[in-house]
Amino acid sequence: MNILTFRSNEELNEAGAGIITGLVQTNPRAVLGLATGGTPVGIYEEIVKSYNKGMVSFKSATSFNLDEYVGIAEDHPESYHAYMKHHLFGHVDFAAERTYLPNGNAENLEQECARYNQLLEDAKQIDLQLLGLGHNGHIGFNEPDHSLVSGTHIVKLKDETRQANARFFDSIDQVPTHALTMGVGAILKAKMILLVVRGADKAEIVQKALQGPITTECPASLLQTHPHVVVLLDTEAGRLLN
Ligand code: F6R
Repeated sequence: MNILTFRSNEELNEAGAGIITGLVQTNPRAVLGLATGGTPVGIYEEIVKSYNKGMVSFKSATSFNLDEYVGIAEDHPESYHAYMKHHLFGHVDFAAERTYLPNGNAENLEQECARYNQLLEDAKQIDLQLLGLGHNGHIGFNEPDHSLVSGTHIVKLKDETRQANARFFDSIDQVPTHALTMGVGAILKAKMILLVVRGADKAEIVQKALQGPITTECPASLLQTHPHVVVLLDTEAGRLLN
């Protein structure tokens, strides 16, 4: 595991964007696993800047998003479909038919999970999976539990996750209770994982995830078993690492 710590958000964003654009420059048909939430926003901004300078094109690339809420419309401003359009897809040249997200409004959610798993299988392997980290150690929406699920599945969001995400909604009641998420099996199958974490409030979980016991009670700790993980931290998030 290669852990890099940055003193400023700018440097961290540039480093994250550089890793992703560098991959697409050398492999234009790269398959990217993408995340939402507050953490990647600055990285997506830097990617858009590089695209605007003509340094990278995504026209032959493919993307799979980790997750989507159940039961909010795709054009709801807080849906992950809307997030991706707002922060990335609306500004760069991804082909719409190769940007995949789970459909949290599917009539049959089980079938939707199976459809997403099939798409992932057809793509063979994600070249780079971008991840943020939940305060409780979740990756994607794989919440801490006695056991974890390998493939795409429906998840009941933990109260702490809904509370953390309430900042994006008018009130906690509006935060969806369920989501569809790629499973840990699909995440760990990626060739390379880029985990990004910022802020003092994540220092404890960063330490647990990267240096604590490997346990399903902290899904991110499973990343310790992956052969190619790059972790980008700000100094606050990395402050408890030995
Ligand atoms: C988002 C996702 C989540 C977030 C995590 C951290 O697609 O899968 O695991 O990465 O909840 O969220 P932020 O970045 O908002 O702190």
